[in-house]
Amino acid sequence: MRKIQFFDTTLRDGEQTVGVNFSITEKVQIAKQLERWGVDVIEAGFPIASPNDFKCVEAISKNIKHAQVTGLARMTFKDIDACTAATKDAANKQIHVFIATSPVHREAKLHMTKEQVLHEIDEKVRYAKKFFDIVQFSPEDATRTEMDYLIQACQTAIDAGATVVNIADTVGYSNPEEFGHIFDELIAKIPNSNRVTFSAHCHNDLGMATANAMAAIKHGAGRVEGTINGIGERAGNTALEEVAAQMYVRKDYYQCENNINMAETKKISDMVSEFSEISIPKNKAVIGPFSFSHESGIHQDGFLKNHATYEILTPETVGMHHSQMPLGKLSGSHAVMARLNQMGYKVTREDMRAIFPAFKAIADTVDLVSEKDLKNIMENKPTEMIK
Ligand code: KIV
Ligand code: ZN
Repeated sequence: MRKIQFFDTTLRDGEQTVGVNFSITEKVQIAKQLERWGVDVIEAGFPIASPNDFKCVEAISKNIKHAQVTGLARMTFKDIDACTAATKDAANKQIHVFIATSPVHREAKLHMTKEQVLHEIDEKVRYAKKFFDIVQFSPEDATRTEMDYLIQACQTAIDAGATVVNIADTVGYSNPEEFGHIFDELIAKIPNSNRVTFSAHCHNDLGMATANAMAAIKHGAGRVEGTINGIGERAGNTALEEVAAQMYVRKDYYQCENNINMAETKKISDMVSEFSEISIPKNKAVIGPFSFSHESGIHQDGFLKNHATYEILTPETVGMHHSQMPLGKLSGSHAVMARLNQMGYKVTREDMRAIFPAFKAIADTVDLVSEKDLKNIMENKPTEMIK
């Protein structure tokens, strides 16, 4: 089975979320938990961006033992030098160099011709290669780049020594079919494509980041990039915990493995949420508390008979405690009876005939029926139950 590498950029692209600014201590703590979670590469920051970013990459390089540590660099000598210096103590390291390749970026932002961009790629990848065995090249805004030119840019990087080519859907423009096709084309048309690892870096502007990343994996990507809880610039990045869960639940479909330790998922998610001060939406896939809650009567009844009826992933798998069955107006008598018995009452199906109408009367007036409400019902026993 192919092994997919997880490249986490919570500390770099994730920190580009509006208002997020991790301290060095927080970054080191997150990096350590990312390592426990099992990521292969940690993008620790953008060393040239600020003295603090430099220090963070340096500190993480000193503290991480197994995962590769990387910093981001534009195609400039000073960026590459800063990255080299910041990662010098890392046990395992790589560099991530990028330049935009799409027409709008070339013309409006870089003011460069196609040839000038190719020249930069060739020169700076060769330079980076002097200091790093593993050089990742990212064509920024790859998904809005002319296909022929994207192939040329990637070919130039590979010929200059790049070992990873990371296709960036910088503005979340692509869709799974189109994104998968880009990987097919690159793999088919680059003669030495088997010498490199292709990687996917997706943004979530149109809500497609995880779907696009999964399409890339299906179409030959050997590395996936993203952030914890999907934080990142604008609408964020691919949420890596979603990728891990997809690969876990649908191994039959993806036929790939990874190094992720699923039971550590909730811990890393909570830590990033706490330090970024961005709460996890209640209905967030995989790690939101509602992901394992069942409210309607039909679902609760099925779930009580066999959890697999309504859960394809168990909360325990991702390090959460247990599923929940909140009681509301759509809940059924089986779930109410189960909860009462959990609370220590010995309630039979017969008793429920009297209890359930009392429960419904309350459920109609509140969002959720609490254990206190249930206790009240039982303390003022419905008349039919008084023997
Ligand atoms: O979104 C993007 O294009 C990036 C690159 C630096 C890979 O984050
Ligand atoms: Zn990005």
